[in-house]
Amino acid sequence: MAAWRSLVLTLFPEMFPGPLGQSLAGKALDRGLWALDILDIRDFARDKHRSVDDTPFGGGAGMVMRPDVVDAALHAAQENWAGAETSGEEAPGRRAPVLYLSPRGRLLTQSLVRELAAGPGVTLLCGRYEGVDERVLEAHDVLEVSLGDYVLSGGETAALVLMDAIVRLLPEVMGNEDSPGEESFGENEFEGLLEYPLFTRPAEWQGRKVPEVLTSGHHEKIRLWRKAQAEEITKRRRPDLWARYTKN
Ligand code: ADE
Repeated sequence: MAAWRSLVLTLFPEMFPGPLGQSLAGKALDRGLWALDILDIRDFARDKHRSVDDTPFGGGAGMVMRPDVVDAALHAAQENWAGAETSGEEAPGRRAPVLYLSPRGRLLTQSLVRELAAGPGVTLLCGRYEGVDERVLEAHDVLEVSLGDYVLSGGETAALVLMDAIVRLLPEVMGNEDSPGEESFGENEFEGLLEYPLFTRPAEWQGRKVPEVLTSGHHEKIRLWRKAQAEEITKRRRPDLWARYTKN
């Protein structure tokens, strides 16, 4: 099967791969464990000034990305996927969803990340924050996804975060030393809990000692201590997550 792929539509192609060219994601990209392709939205501008935006109907601040330009870019993305699929042996019927990064979107959670990692890939539409003409989002059945209740200056940094979260879950991306097992929101007995505290050498640092149980060698006691810590931290810091955890 073809590697998981992200096709990014942006006005700032130089922002990619950016941090995803480094470390874990970067090595995985070099090894072909995932693929990243970029389309420059400006290449789909139709006039001699290569304009991609216009003033909003009804007035107001800022500019809006034009539906005709974004539509042409999304059609090119579709064709690009069709080409990629005929050259591979992609499972039929599993189409890569088109996501638009926006604060109005469905909140990105680890379960959505897992869902996207299990599919063939994503097309990511990055807008300037004033936004994209609503009609082109409707016409292409775009799923809006938000990182949280704050406003970024554009979708590109959000796209990088989304890809980072997905790529680390792809097969063979992580070594055994740092498997995506026990950290917050991982899929195991700590599922739904925030991470317990971590310590490394030295056992005493600036007068602060590592909790004794961790140096005891009692694996079962250590597991129980970590579980209790994770629960305590979650209860205190994130009552919303705690409520969901205790319900399940
Ligand atoms: N673009 C601007 N703000 C954003 C946010 N909070 N999440 C996703 N995309 C965005």
